[in-house]
Amino acid sequence: MSRKLVAGNWKMNLQKDEAHALIAEILGMLNDEVNAEKKVILFPSFVHLGAAVQLCSADKRISIGAQNCSDKVSGAFTGEVSAAMLRSVGCKYVLIGHSERRQLFNENNQWLAEKINTALKELLHPVYCIGETLEQRNGNQHFSTIEAQLNEGIFHLNENEFRKCILAYEPVWAIGTGVTASADQAQEMHAFIRSLVNKKYGASIAEETTILYGGSCNDQNAGELFSLPDVDGGLIGGASLKSRSFVNIIKALP
Ligand code: PGA
Repeated sequence: MSRKLVAGNWKMNLQKDEAHALIAEILGMLNDEVNAEKKVILFPSFVHLGAAVQLCSADKRISIGAQNCSDKVSGAFTGEVSAAMLRSVGCKYVLIGHSERRQLFNENNQWLAEKINTALKELLHPVYCIGETLEQRNGNQHFSTIEAQLNEGIFHLNENEFRKCILAYEPVWAIGTGVTASADQAQEMHAFIRSLVNKKYGASIAEETTILYGGSCNDQNAGELFSLPDVDGGLIGGASLKSRSFVNIIKALP
């Protein structure tokens, strides 16, 4: 099966009507312009998930995921949303450890490891996000940062569990900044990540692991990024909120 896909992370954007309209536009353009093999995941906010699942149910290319989930199974955790609830409304994926969660909500690797475990128990596919800050890159700590995020956040999984996961490399300095990683920087880090997966789980799992790039990816630079040997598509923020740019990015998948 192809490793390649494009995902749209809507973050905390779009009211109900806007969300539904965006989905309708994307569905129309996919229908007219995009072949049936492409794989797409949308990550709307919690309140739009159920409707998004319904609206997209006729298009096999699109799956729906949540932007976060609790590490707890159920109970007195006011304001939290469990993996089982996500599953029950038809979600297939969940973002774990987006850099905004790490930075603004203090989610650390250990906590994220718990979230991954909970998500997998409910048969969701975690999309585990990793990435270094500008300070870490300038201090030449980008490789060690990524290695620690993998070792502490996801490499506790066994082979079967790990195969259900997707990785997303999102350098924090590239998210929402308009500064994209260069092709060399992206390929270097994606190859490094795949080499760590190879060391931990072996060549065949490394070969089938999807590693997305995220951070100011748009319809101008997606073609170059997606053509890199170890970049398997993108996790798109800002450019996923406009149907035209998002579908152009999907069309840039080789
Ligand atoms: P961006 O966000 O495309 O707006 O940089 C990517 C992300 O945060 O997933």
